[in-house]
Amino acid sequence: MGEDLCKILITEDEISSRLDELAAAIDRDYEGKEILVLGILKGAVMVMADLARKMHTPLTMDWMAVSSYGSGTKSSGVVRILKDLETDLEGKHVLIVEDIIDSGLTLSWLKANLESRGPASVEIATLLRKPDATTVDIHVEYVGFDIPNEFVVGYGLDYAEKYRNLPFVGTLAPHVYGG
Ligand code: PRP
Ligand code: MN
Ligand code: MG
Repeated sequence: MGEDLCKILITEDEISSRLDELAAAIDRDYEGKEILVLGILKGAVMVMADLARKMHTPLTMDWMAVSSYGSGTKSSGVVRILKDLETDLEGKHVLIVEDIIDSGLTLSWLKANLESRGPASVEIATLLRKPDATTVDIHVEYVGFDIPNEFVVGYGLDYAEKYRNLPFVGTLAPHVYGG
């Protein structure tokens, strides 16, 4: 495992401290409301679990699985719903939780899809955002860290389904993905 990574980009403590701040901001913004927190499988599992435990706003959880990457390192631009959510969104305040926004293609498609279902609001929280995401026209209310354009894994993020269980975010060594 150790030689598969170049470096630790964001430590476990840094993630936890930043999620404290995001949870506090979300609690302030949604005071008096209830949130449907929507985690995007599989990458968002870790941030969903940790962020939700730091929030005090009443919430329910649901999950969607969409995929744009497959097992490669580049976004295909094709978004597929692998699992839809089970909640009627009518009148709900939806907070999408993502691990990373890279090209932004997944979220711009997903946000439009969810907005067509009649929710009261749809906002986005992401742990990580890469530079390309700013070229797509979507508003992201809660961003943990803006990171450089490196291939990162850990804390939910995979390469070919591996490394999701690392407690930190690290940069994958190029030899692992043939770079
Ligand atoms: C990754 C990541 C985001 C998406 C971001 O998911 O977790 O959901 O890609 O890419 P984009 O901004 O370029 O669209 P992936 O499709 O790899 O599925 P996974 O969460 O199951 O790993
Ligand atoms: Mn994902
Ligand atoms: Mg992935």
